[in-house]
Amino acid sequence: MSVGIEKIGFYTAPYYIDMVDLAEARNQDPNKFLIGIGQKQQSVIPPSQDVVSMAANAAETILTEEDKKTIDMIIFGTETGIDNSKAASMYLQSLLGISDYARAFEVKQACYGGTAGIQMGINYLALNPDRKVLVIGADIARYGLETPGEVTQGGGAVAMLLSSNPTVLALDGKSAFYSKNIMDFWRPNYTKEARVDGHYSNDVYVDFFNRTFNQYLDRYNKQVTDFDALVFHLPYPKMGVKALRTVVPQEEENNPLWVEFNHSKLYNSLVGNLYTGSLYLSLISLIANSKTIPAGANIGLFSYGSGAQGEFYSGVLGEFDRKLLKQSVDQQINRRKRLTITEYEQMYRSGLKETADLSINYSDDDSRFVLKGRAKDKLIYLDQVTGEDK
Ligand code: HMG
Repeated sequence: MSVGIEKIGFYTAPYYIDMVDLAEARNQDPNKFLIGIGQKQQSVIPPSQDVVSMAANAAETILTEEDKKTIDMIIFGTETGIDNSKAASMYLQSLLGISDYARAFEVKQACYGGTAGIQMGINYLALNPDRKVLVIGADIARYGLETPGEVTQGGGAVAMLLSSNPTVLALDGKSAFYSKNIMDFWRPNYTKEARVDGHYSNDVYVDFFNRTFNQYLDRYNKQVTDFDALVFHLPYPKMGVKALRTVVPQEEENNPLWVEFNHSKLYNSLVGNLYTGSLYLSLISLIANSKTIPAGANIGLFSYGSGAQGEFYSGVLGEFDRKLLKQSVDQQINRRKRLTITEYEQMYRSGLKETADLSINYSDDDSRFVLKGRAKDKLIYLDQVTGEDK
């Protein structure tokens, strides 16, 4: 019996900034952002979206009523928690109308939370093959205005339905992981902005990739040529280039792994970092944009969460309607409104308000699920299709 990803869906907020505009506003050479970082655009998350509403919007693109009845677990990977106690998955369950007879909880380890959810989910399905598991990776990446990390911000959500009918990606259970207590990137409780030792974080990422990839090759007696594509956690596209170079030297640009990598970074270069969702947006980007990667292809996935945890694992690409996936993601990305840098800065600052009662203006946000505000410290979400508050 095989288990893995049966469906995958994506959501990002309805605004973006162009990296040339940002470079000009920050007195930087645009090529630093476009080539040096590899970023073209960046999604901007308004106050009317948080990880719960983004996750609900992503999940709604894939789930049927039948799926909702069969989901036994909702595992929410995020490092942008909405409460110090209550898991984002509780709100998600009610927004989506998933059965109450489900386990619902949140997983945190920086950008690794979604991968932890997938590994937990497939173990459950191995024992319960007639059930389904919903895994979410949703985050908002914030470093602060006029910081070196600003060009690597972004946000969004990826929703994955796991089952024993893995039409997107069958997971073969092969995996290698490595963790160590280090300070490359962290988010203190008193602020929404990340603290980061940027160049050190790049070095640790590559080190963890090399350790887990080599451990995987040794453990399963494999070599790099056994893979048809390698996809990476992409905090920004150049990071994947730095990692891939260490196993397939840059000179070999016609190598299929480089060709497929270029497909896998397309969407990320338009959305930016979405932390837990970034690896899975890259997987979507590969399968939606590559015309050369066939069903049956062997895919290697590198997951990295600062702090730090790395995992390299593998799966086999299934057969499903890739055109439909591409249409849905292209629609998400193309519908976004371009903001000026001044508009972005205003939106960014308004996302910092922390008061017990808060009314959020969502009139420009046509996403199905939005955050309306807070009343006596309780978050209120709105389903704009049914008109219901949750
Ligand atoms: P920086 O220091 O401003 O940039 O910040 P730089 O000086 O290192 O330049 C960046 C690149 O642009 C360099 O290329 C330059 O040579 C090039 P590289 O040497 O890296 O190949 N460059 C140019 N190229 C063309 N034309 C030009 C030009 N000028 C320069 N004119 C940094 C960059 C990434 C450090 C910063 O944005 C940052 O701190 N970002 C956040 C941290 C991050 O994303 N780290 C990634 C690894 S950690 C991770 O993935 C985990 C994470 O997702 C969090 C989590 O797990 O929760 C972040």
